[in-house]
Amino acid sequence: MRVLVIGSGAREHALLLALGRDPQVDALAVAPGNAGTAALAEQYDVDITSGGEVVGLARRFGADLVVIGPEVPLVLGVADALRAAGIACFGPSKDASRIEGSKAFAKDVMSAAGVRTARSEIVDNPAHLDAALDRFGPPAGQQAWVVKDDGLAAGKGVVVTSDREVARSHAASLLDGGHPVLLESFLDGPEVSLFCVVDGETVVPLLPAQDFKRVGDGDSGPNTGGMGAYVPLPWLPADVTRQIVTEIVEPVAAELVRRGSTFSGLLYAGLAISSDGPAVVEFNCRFGDPETQAVLPLLESPLGQLLFAAATGTLAEFEELRWSDDYAVAVVIAAENYPGRPRTGDVITGAEAPGVLHAGTARREDGAVVSAGGRVLSVVGTGPDLTAARSAAYAIADSIRLPGSHFRTDIGLAAAEGRITL
Ligand code: GLY
Repeated sequence: MRVLVIGSGAREHALLLALGRDPQVDALAVAPGNAGTAALAEQYDVDITSGGEVVGLARRFGADLVVIGPEVPLVLGVADALRAAGIACFGPSKDASRIEGSKAFAKDVMSAAGVRTARSEIVDNPAHLDAALDRFGPPAGQQAWVVKDDGLAAGKGVVVTSDREVARSHAASLLDGGHPVLLESFLDGPEVSLFCVVDGETVVPLLPAQDFKRVGDGDSGPNTGGMGAYVPLPWLPADVTRQIVTEIVEPVAAELVRRGSTFSGLLYAGLAISSDGPAVVEFNCRFGDPETQAVLPLLESPLGQLLFAAATGTLAEFEELRWSDDYAVAVVIAAENYPGRPRTGDVITGAEAPGVLHAGTARREDGAVVSAGGRVLSVVGTGPDLTAARSAAYAIADSIRLPGSHFRTDIGLAAAEGRITL
């Protein structure tokens, strides 16, 4: 099988590594890729938001399967263009991708499916902002205002704060930029990312993961696209994962089928496990980053065959997924100033070691690997328990040199110390 992966992050690097382990995958290509993925796959520079360019590349490469990593090409309909050209694609249609692309659509689907989620309100008129903030103010026992961009913002459009002025100023700046604002009630409890391979009403969950969205240790500082993840979650009973599948993901997949927006691809449920049970924080229409970097190293089933089955309507017949008994920890190495405007162009040393996945990297003409984005690398360690997996990941992180870079030192720490309880 010849597989073309679309995207350029550490998530796509992890996808390529896992696809390369599938004995039925005999050729890999990536567009546009980065300095790390070039060692694994033929690399092509096309506009990945253009259906025509991606179809053209898939034909030139002779792709049997195209796997679309990021949300932007999905929301723009690149999967539709591939399917219309008769090319198998792992990734939902433009219509189904609204589960991520429009928070209002996602809320409507969840409400129709009877799924627990935060109370929410969209504000598109600055004159209505103060009254709406008052309706969402943290009452006694609640912790924060949750202010989101009602569109794609790579995690950085979200502010969670107990300071009304901070909430107000973020909402006002989004509105000034012409972005409708979504206010939500705060969902308390540990967060879980559950990735499900979905084709219509067939739902195959992967191992649940936990992401760390704030930039600093102890969940301090602003939100980011994600600073690290670990898998599996020792504190999450298996029956809660089953409950998430049967009470949340399957009803949402069925509701999407019912309204003619059938989902085929990766449905990512971001959840809070509150005292009343799991509730949805958000859905995404693609693999999450950095959770994918921790989930896929533990998958023993052949990833290419799994994604091909979903893309060609045979997911229901696919073998039960097999997993390693290990744990995995992914730590993101970010450039100076991320999640603000990152410093780029610095030479990175140690980036070619095993366990290092590339995201914002490029190869300079003299052969040096340099930083080219905010989240530069993910380093991944595995081990028989979380402590061992953390040690393995942090040993790699400590061996990398990138001026001004930073990473969180507490990925998976609270779980390893048994400090997460439901
Ligand atoms: N891990 C957050 C995201 O992928 O959106």
